[in-house]
Amino acid sequence: MDNRAIGVFDSGLGGLTAVRQLHRVMPGEDIIYFGDTGRVPYGSRSRRTILEYTRQDVAFLNSHDIKAIVVACGTVSSVALGVVSTENSIPMVGVVKPSCYAAMRATKNGRIGIIGTKSTIRSGSYEAMLHTLDPSIHTIARPCPLFVSLVENGRFSADDRVVQLMVEEYLAEIRDYGVDTLIMGCTHFPLLRDAIADFLGGGVTLIDVGAEAADYVRTFLDPAERQQGTTEYYVSDDIESFDEHAEMFLGEPAGVHAQMVDIVSYGKERG
Ligand code: DGL
Repeated sequence: MDNRAIGVFDSGLGGLTAVRQLHRVMPGEDIIYFGDTGRVPYGSRSRRTILEYTRQDVAFLNSHDIKAIVVACGTVSSVALGVVSTENSIPMVGVVKPSCYAAMRATKNGRIGIIGTKSTIRSGSYEAMLHTLDPSIHTIARPCPLFVSLVENGRFSADDRVVQLMVEEYLAEIRDYGVDTLIMGCTHFPLLRDAIADFLGGGVTLIDVGAEAADYVRTFLDPAERQQGTTEYYVSDDIESFDEHAEMFLGEPAGVHAQMVDIVSYGKERG
């Protein structure tokens, strides 16, 4: 394959929620996906480490013939995208901007909640973008660090008592704040959509940030350049677990067979 594909990466499985939407809206595109399963989670790490990992992930994707990169990770989009996009000439799309636009379109009462990893929430990326779009918007942001581990371990059913307890713990203040829109600011979180919707009630619009990024990519890629519609998957560890869980994220019987990458061997020149 390797013909002008779209590169997509995340710390693990979460970015597959963006691939799922790319498959829906641009089925003819070739995709190269990298999940850094050997080093997930990124969200509890320092900015320096996230930047180092991101440079390696981007260098790996750049070793293929790609025409754009989707940073399908809220943490990387919030903490490292600003730097790496100045170091690379290829178009790079993160999840923050497209999902803030979607939230602004959705909200009626001007109260928007944001959930994400610790690093994402500490960065203030979503609030800054929302306030750029409309300074009068009211926001409430909360980190949900354990959601990523739950999801990576296949625990996301709305009937799962552990999931319900975590959702209640993390989202009580957001519900009490009266939001009508919630940005699920980490690409792992859409798997928890049912549990979150049950807790917040039907009146709250949930924004899937990976899907919004995928929709945004469609607006600037030339449809004439579409290829075979194949997707190659690469990971840095535990192929079996990735293959086993990928279908749940992709929402389709995908028959995923990932290949292993020695990710630390990429981007070494920057140290
Ligand atoms: N899926 C990622 C995000 O959107 C990363 C989760 C993590 O690695 O902590 O933030």
